[in-house]
Amino acid sequence: MKHEMFQAPYPPYDPTDTSGFSYDTVVKRWPIILTNIIDHVHRLLHDMTIEAQQVRDLDVSKAEELSKKTTEGQEIISEISRLKYRMARDHELENILQDGDILVAEYNAELESLKQTSRNTWFKAPWLYAECYLYRLIRTYFNQRTYWRGFDPFSTQKEEMFKNSGAAIYQIATTMHELESEKVKLQGDPDKLEVLFKEMIQMCLWGNATDLSLLTHLSPSDIEHLQTVGKEAQEARSEFILKDDQGDVWSYVKTLANQGKRLDFVLDNAGFELFTDFVFADFLVTYTPYFSQVVFHPKLFPWFVSDVTPTDFTNTISSLLSATFFPPNSTTSPDSAAHLQQMVTRWKSYIDKGIFTLATDITNGQKMSEFWNGPWPYWNMNELAPELGQWLSGSGLVIFKGDLNYRKLAGDVKWPVSTPFPTAIGPLAGSFPLLSLRTNKADVAVGIDEKVAENLDNKGEKWRVSGR
Ligand code: F6P
Ligand code: MG
Repeated sequence: MKHEMFQAPYPPYDPTDTSGFSYDTVVKRWPIILTNIIDHVHRLLHDMTIEAQQVRDLDVSKAEELSKKTTEGQEIISEISRLKYRMARDHELENILQDGDILVAEYNAELESLKQTSRNTWFKAPWLYAECYLYRLIRTYFNQRTYWRGFDPFSTQKEEMFKNSGAAIYQIATTMHELESEKVKLQGDPDKLEVLFKEMIQMCLWGNATDLSLLTHLSPSDIEHLQTVGKEAQEARSEFILKDDQGDVWSYVKTLANQGKRLDFVLDNAGFELFTDFVFADFLVTYTPYFSQVVFHPKLFPWFVSDVTPTDFTNTISSLLSATFFPPNSTTSPDSAAHLQQMVTRWKSYIDKGIFTLATDITNGQKMSEFWNGPWPYWNMNELAPELGQWLSGSGLVIFKGDLNYRKLAGDVKWPVSTPFPTAIGPLAGSFPLLSLRTNKADVAVGIDEKVAENLDNKGEKWRVSGR
């Protein structure tokens, strides 16, 4: 690298600390993720074998294709099994093979520099690097094969999870429908708008929780009711929010009225979380004068199991518009289905008109998006991904969703908890207006009162990693 990279005054989290969450991840979580991929491919191979038998006499070339795909699938399974073996024994991370896809040279260059300090094994590498590398490595197993190139091993899992969130989705659709009749009143009433803004922001935040049981609000049937319930619900949940800048965000956003500003969403997970991102974006564009367009930034290849890829983004709209996607018992009110239809039809029209845009559809968008699948902290975004840095510098607000984005913002290093957030994001501070909405699923945490952290620790709360 030509540029001088930012050095944090603290070391990164890595699994050499056996009491940390990263150790747990290498020992337990990654093997489970890998085993799930193996099981999934196994099941697909089983189905293919049956299909091949069925078409054997009818369609010879189809049968042959299935047989070749099965052989390739078996190769993929053995590579993943080998990886599990090597990982458990703290073997070296191997160079990523050139598969014609993005970031091979970049991952290998970082790996080479870890080798210089003997940190190129599964238990010694910085957790952030190793985990990003893992998803790039999995990508190459599929990419090297003719019939599996570009395959997303997590797509079925993402879709199943999404199907399970029908109840909350219908409920939110009805709440949004009720805003419709209040639209004019709302725009002239900043106090009501503020309450709603905070409701929306919290819905979008908790959309990142692994456990959706925290999403118990957003049910009231009129706006007055929503206001009180909103406030009460916010108070009830406030003890779960350890760093709360909602007031500051609102003060800032209020200054943006009628300037045609753009909102950028650096997406995290597909399914329910993406749905809440859409709702928040829709609220801001449809009901407030603060933003007139939204750009959504996806990942270019399957990432941390559930992150949004361009395919997920497109499928989300069609799934939501399909009358049969959610199980029939998801909604108790027949009106909700109509409300959902109405809302998502609006989103689709926003996409058609370029009010909502996927970053990869912008000129240079593909190049600009590569950075999100890289192994680096975001500190040196302006040097490492100048197109992206420049794009974001023109944004009215950049919302970073989720835990991994937060880890990368703060470099996944062992900052003392009371470190101010702007300090932790290093040279990125001041580059653009930034809001991070994250539920804690990893050790890194900043901007928190030391006493608050100490109290939680004393109570034995796993507050850094529980997602609550
Ligand atoms: O594998 C662990 C992890 O990196 C944690 O940081 C977090 O639990 C998860 O992956 C990603 O979470 P999110 O989808 O919120 O970024
Ligand atoms: Mg994620």
